[in-house]
Amino acid sequence: MTKQFNKNIILGISGGIAAYKSANLVRALIKAGANVRVCMTDAATKFITPLTFQALSGNPVHTDLLDSHAEAAMGHIELARWADSIIIAPASADIMARLAHGMANDLLSTLCLATEAPLYLAPAMNRVMWENAATQANLHLLLQRDIQILGPDDGEQACGEIGTGRMLEPDEILARLLHSESEQIKQQPLHGKHVLLTAGPTREAIDPVRYISNRSSGKMGYSIAIAARDLGAKVTVISGPVSISAPQKIDIIKVESAAQMYAATLAAAKYADIFVATAAVSDYSTKEFFSKKIKKSDENFQLVLQQNADILSDTSHQFTDLFTVGFAAETHDLITYARNKLERKKLDMIVANPVGEGKGFDQDTNQLEIIWADGQLSLPEKNKQTLAYELMDIIVEQYFKKQKTHSD
Ligand code: PMT
Repeated sequence: MTKQFNKNIILGISGGIAAYKSANLVRALIKAGANVRVCMTDAATKFITPLTFQALSGNPVHTDLLDSHAEAAMGHIELARWADSIIIAPASADIMARLAHGMANDLLSTLCLATEAPLYLAPAMNRVMWENAATQANLHLLLQRDIQILGPDDGEQACGEIGTGRMLEPDEILARLLHSESEQIKQQPLHGKHVLLTAGPTREAIDPVRYISNRSSGKMGYSIAIAARDLGAKVTVISGPVSISAPQKIDIIKVESAAQMYAATLAAAKYADIFVATAAVSDYSTKEFFSKKIKKSDENFQLVLQQNADILSDTSHQFTDLFTVGFAAETHDLITYARNKLERKKLDMIVANPVGEGKGFDQDTNQLEIIWADGQLSLPEKNKQTLAYELMDIIVEQYFKKQKTHSD
């Protein structure tokens, strides 16, 4: 069978008689190509043993929030990050209530709170419990948060009653997951594409304790990385030293100097489709590195600097199929300098931003002037994440336009 569902899935199992059906769901998911890790609530382990799921999934089963062994191997935050989707089947009235109210009082509820992955619930409970106003109110809250509810089904229940509350059959759950994923892919124009970014500052060492750098925080670059990821791209960021935290599901390659950023970028560029250079790369580094801390002696001290290679320019000249986007940080004559860089560095697009006097560097907001061969657009001052989403929409449009021109 061809792989249809090449994803990392956490299958959450809560306490309910339908837990036995989840064994078949594990098999169906694996058969469809998924990597499955199972997380069981305490109540679920009373219905079916973790060993069954360990054998079927080929992975240890996660049960305890504070399990020192599990924490060493894969703690709850890593597990939450690892997942491309979390599916809870069966989802009891209790887990629905706890998720609706943001509880994190066991491993499964904590994972749901700590993940950015889509969450699917396949409810299973007695029909009266399902119809209860409290469950329906919780359901309403969960739906408002874009949590996807699969089922429940109608029919005869384990308790002998007839009504709504049966868990969907594993094949039906898988079919709905696949449908939902393919709908999501349609909304992700960069699915299957690789976006490479440089971000943050570089540090050019002078001696073991001193360096030349700048005020870039990495916020602009990381915001664009998030926007590209949300459009479905695989994203790699070659990042200078920053203190902001790494976004989920983005590969970060940490570097310090311009030379290291250069090597890492050129190595990664061959696998990329789009390259966005947001890093504030030092134009110069010291000609000589002092291996011992420089002592204070004369009143004047001269450092000799040499020009660094231009990462953006060399990448765009070497990888002509790559859609390259540069940034231009200017204190004056923004458009003139930016147009000049667009041509000189052989770019598909340049994004100019005013800097200095509290603008651009290390700020939460920015203002962009986007220029490409036959177009220009101004984005007035907004927070960097909002701008990043708007910028990525323009990049996507121009990228596909260029692809189409090449294939015609
Ligand atoms: O990180 P933040 O605090 O959020 O700030 C964001 C920012 C202001 C740093 C960012 O929006 C920005 O403008 N980045 C580019 C800064 C810069 O170095 O601009 P530049 O005009 O000097 O360089 C032009 C382009 O060439 C840039 O894409 C730069 O990444 C690239 N370059 C420059 C020199 C070099 N040796 N290699 C390069 O790749």
